[in-house]
Amino acid sequence: MYKIVAIDGPAGSGKGTVAKILASECNLMYIDTGAMYRAVAYQTLKDNISIEEEDKIVEIAKNSKIEFVDGQTYLNGDNISKEIRTMEVTRIVSPISSIVKLREILVDLQREMAKGANVIMEGRDITTVVFPNATYKFYLDASVEERANRRYKENKEKGMDVSYDEILENIKKRDYNDMHKEVGSLTRTEDSIYIDSTNLTIDEVVEKMKNIINN
Ligand code: DC
Repeated sequence: MYKIVAIDGPAGSGKGTVAKILASECNLMYIDTGAMYRAVAYQTLKDNISIEEEDKIVEIAKNSKIEFVDGQTYLNGDNISKEIRTMEVTRIVSPISSIVKLREILVDLQREMAKGANVIMEGRDITTVVFPNATYKFYLDASVEERANRRYKENKEKGMDVSYDEILENIKKRDYNDMHKEVGSLTRTEDSIYIDSTNLTIDEVVEKMKNIINN
């Protein structure tokens, strides 16, 4: 039986950071499902398609090859890891991820990617839709101000000039949209282990999760 560690939580809750560390320390394959929605959003912008043109966006997903190699995100062979983190992509990714047909395609792909491997997968609907029977289910949370603060610092380190207020506003909007989707809404399930990381360091969160995964 392969192990599946599923993590859900809102933007900036630390899912990506802890999942990467746990992947390397516990020998798990890391799948960042948000990066897959971002890849589609990136191509939507590149093709000058508006977010209302849902059929065209679904076509992008159908015709694209999204892969993860050495922690990098590739779209049709191009490394787009940096491009998918821009504010332009971040602004449109949540509405794009509400497209039900697009979700079906990406959920199938996520299940396919996880076949035959021990996996750690993070996103918004992993514990509810993609792998409701995962070996371990976590819901990672933090206050909205702390999450905005983390993103602000991350962006600054990357040399991206976005104000704290714009990030806070974007996170609030995404939280609302991500929690009110027709399909795949961010939900905290009763059987998920809840971790509030507002006052915890990354190491402390990793330690907590590692103890659970290793036991
Ligand atoms: O985790 P992230 O911020 O990179 O995700 C980007 C967006 O993609 C997020 O606003 C919601 C969406 N998403 C989703 O709907 N389902 C997932 N499993 C992962 C992300």
